[in-house]
Amino acid sequence: MARLLSRILVSGGAGFIGSNFIRYLLGLPEFSGCVVNYDALTYAGNLENLADIDSIHGKTGSRRYTFIQGDICNRAYLESVFKEYDIDTVVHFAAESHVDRSILSPGSFIRTNVLGTYTLLDVARESWKGRDDVLFHHISTDEVFGSLDDSGHFTEATPYAPRSPYSASKASSDHLVRSYHHTYGMPTTLTNCSNNYGPYQFPEKLIPFMILNMLEGKPLPVYGDGKNIRDWLYVVDHNAAIWLVMNNGRKGESYNIGGDEELENIRILERLIELIAVKLDRDPATLHALITYVKDRPGHDRRYAIDSSKLKRELGWKPAISLVQGLTITVQWYLDNLEWCNHIRSGEYRTWLTRNYQNR
Ligand code: NAD
Ligand code: DAU
Repeated sequence: MARLLSRILVSGGAGFIGSNFIRYLLGLPEFSGCVVNYDALTYAGNLENLADIDSIHGKTGSRRYTFIQGDICNRAYLESVFKEYDIDTVVHFAAESHVDRSILSPGSFIRTNVLGTYTLLDVARESWKGRDDVLFHHISTDEVFGSLDDSGHFTEATPYAPRSPYSASKASSDHLVRSYHHTYGMPTTLTNCSNNYGPYQFPEKLIPFMILNMLEGKPLPVYGDGKNIRDWLYVVDHNAAIWLVMNNGRKGESYNIGGDEELENIRILERLIELIAVKLDRDPATLHALITYVKDRPGHDRRYAIDSSKLKRELGWKPAISLVQGLTITVQWYLDNLEWCNHIRSGEYRTWLTRNYQNR
């Protein structure tokens, strides 16, 4: 392995993709290093996601996993963590990630995604002092490229054209990462991926939100005409791609990651209805009747589609889990983890939902 990749700080490791990444990494036979999960535990962060990992690899286990509650905007605290744990790699997931929230209150997106990314980058720069056996890997989104019509795909060369406060803040963070590579020579890699789904996703995002509403017999709010298209990527496929890029990607480069599974939102709902009807022996027509077309999301991007051919060609990655397989696993996971769902939906999330979406 060319790089050290042995003392890894994962920012946002208590969230959906970050917690799946930590589980993936600590399960790899080839990885013998340590992980520091640095997370502020906002409404989206949940240590229950990693309770099993903590008991196997935490203080009372192999000691290869440490959780630290901290904000990526807190420079002094980050500096002390870099020093104490001798961090050689950063995998930066921490972000405000939900588009609807960014429309209602953009401030926290600018703070965490822009200022927080700058702070983390700058602490890494100062701590690493020009070393080249280190890596800053940044996780970003296909939303930085804007919206597509019926044809075409985003490539790494597509000009940036973000259209929501969320995607604008992520675009800004991408530019900062690139600038640290070009200006200071920091070894960086960057990935832009499509819509993830799978276990431990916070149930404000389309798939888990709809699964839980179906189980509870609540309306299924479809924005606009339901024909907006997203490309769905199973979270474990995403994490395998991230690890591949971290190990073998070219420094200073970005790689697109997509699932090759483009689907209209309404079709996703129909697939979920079919799965839940079979698994719970419910009448599909009753579930279908819950579909409610609601006012569209302001500035709603019409279509995202990712061209991952660079990643496939250069690093030999391809998605292993089809949408049918992934949705089946995901629906079963939510059915098996209703207690997790109740815990994560209590508190701040419920208050926010009631305040902003009383008509749902
Ligand atoms: P998430 O909302 O589930 O988790 C975000 C995590 O970051 C939480 O644990 C939260 O506590 C933490 N966090 C937030 N602000 C913080 C701060 N100031 N300091 C430290 N920690 C903080 O998000 P996710 O869906 O897992 O997304 C992870 C990353 O992947 C994000 O950067 C997101 O932009 C990107 N991404 C997500 C998707 C997707 O479909 N979910 C797709 C493309 C890119
Ligand atoms: O494309 C990658 C992005 O995917 C990530 O960068 C974001 O972090 C992630 O949240 C996701 O953004 P989206 O806006 O695409 O995901 P969301 O799950 O919010 O919505 C998916 C689609 O479903 C979108 O077209 C809006 C629609 N939708 C969503 C919700 C929550 C509905 O029609 N009804 C809903 O209730």
